[in-house]
Amino acid sequence: MFKAHRREFLDRMQDGDIALFQGAALATRNHDVEFPFRQQSSFWYLTGCQEPDAALMLAKGIEGVAEETLFVLPRDPARETWVGRRMGPEGAVERLGFCAAFNHDEFQEEVEQALTKSKRVWCQLGFNDELDAFILESLKSLRAKARLGLALPESILDAGLIVHEMRVLKSPAELDFMRKAAAISAEAHLLAMSQCRPGMMEYELEALLHYTFRRHGCNDSGWAYPSIVAGGDNANILHYNTNHMALQDGDMVLIDAGGEYQCYAADITRTFPINGTFRPAQRDIYEVVLAAQLAAMDVVRAGNEFHQAHDVSIATLCDGLHQLGVLKCGVEEAIATDAHKQWTIHNTSHYLGLDVHDCGVSRADGNSRLLEPGMVLTVEPGLYFPADDDSVAAELRGIGVRIEDDIHVTGGAPENLSAATPKALADVEEACRAERLAPPTLETAEIGS
Ligand code: GLY
Ligand code: MN
Ligand code: MN
Repeated sequence: MFKAHRREFLDRMQDGDIALFQGAALATRNHDVEFPFRQQSSFWYLTGCQEPDAALMLAKGIEGVAEETLFVLPRDPARETWVGRRMGPEGAVERLGFCAAFNHDEFQEEVEQALTKSKRVWCQLGFNDELDAFILESLKSLRAKARLGLALPESILDAGLIVHEMRVLKSPAELDFMRKAAAISAEAHLLAMSQCRPGMMEYELEALLHYTFRRHGCNDSGWAYPSIVAGGDNANILHYNTNHMALQDGDMVLIDAGGEYQCYAADITRTFPINGTFRPAQRDIYEVVLAAQLAAMDVVRAGNEFHQAHDVSIATLCDGLHQLGVLKCGVEEAIATDAHKQWTIHNTSHYLGLDVHDCGVSRADGNSRLLEPGMVLTVEPGLYFPADDDSVAAELRGIGVRIEDDIHVTGGAPENLSAATPKALADVEEACRAERLAPPTLETAEIGS
């Protein structure tokens, strides 16, 4: 898969081009503790290299320069004993299929050689300060030597124009990873529904989600983004993820959580009653959001505009807001003037892939892009009524509902990758009524008190 991605990138280059990419480095968390390593997404896409401080050079039709070269940290038995195994350049050739590989301290020399023979340079300026500085410094020193007859590359091009576009259309192998990420995440949501009880802490549900992600082999921490477990009014904070409060009887909990499998993300939101039964106001709001989500999902089809799902969702949410007595104007006026925005807040869709908010253009020259088979996007309408929103009836306040699925655009009907996550009202209540497992508990309130 990774080699095929490199070949396609090379196919889109011209003779005389080189492309340079820098992988991620380890980041310090505190003192001498590092964050779990996560490869930069496009670098992973082109290399399959899971080691820090690696770099990639692709070169097309340049004499004496290999088409695909990976630079990696050298083998080092002493370092490897402390911090883990490295593949070294030999491993890059044997395991990742590179035609050439070097120690990463040879990057500068090899690339400067290639630059003297190249016409154009592709890179992701602005992504990595070190690489940007290196390219500019190299061009400066080449310029100084121009009188010796060394030519300078004529232009620097944005590698994102190629690799981001490639990443928008998922291959069958990528889709399989995304199906797996979604299936694991669906199981995690189901477990959270079945185990939720009034009085639990939000972080207890978070622990069950992350347990499920890791249990099935999701990457390092397991999650694709910090999980949101938002009880009651916390659901009205869109990126709430402190997850430190107790879940109250009579409230709902909004969970927005997805695992990351082979670096591919799932992104699923469900909102369900903490005690297992929707109250009438909760049910009313949930039904509006569900209707919007189903209507929007249905237009995620090849040939439709990217933003159609949002338009359909907003029209349905506005109908619902009108029926709930929230809108102070008619539905058409609310749509035309954005009078709904206070309660609908965010967009309905984003691309999904190696990044949860994946790369790729959804609007060009002011026009919404047409959907194509192989795209994957979320559909995630929501309605939000903060506890202090005195513009709505008292029974609506403190309720936030979002429902989010991951949709693969096919040649026919949309494929919902996260369909196994209960969503219909009756299915959600049934999932919440499932038997409770009995994990050993600690009196958490006493710890540190
Ligand atoms: N979990 C982030 C989002 O739904 O966009
Ligand atoms: Mn999302
Ligand atoms: Mn989400």
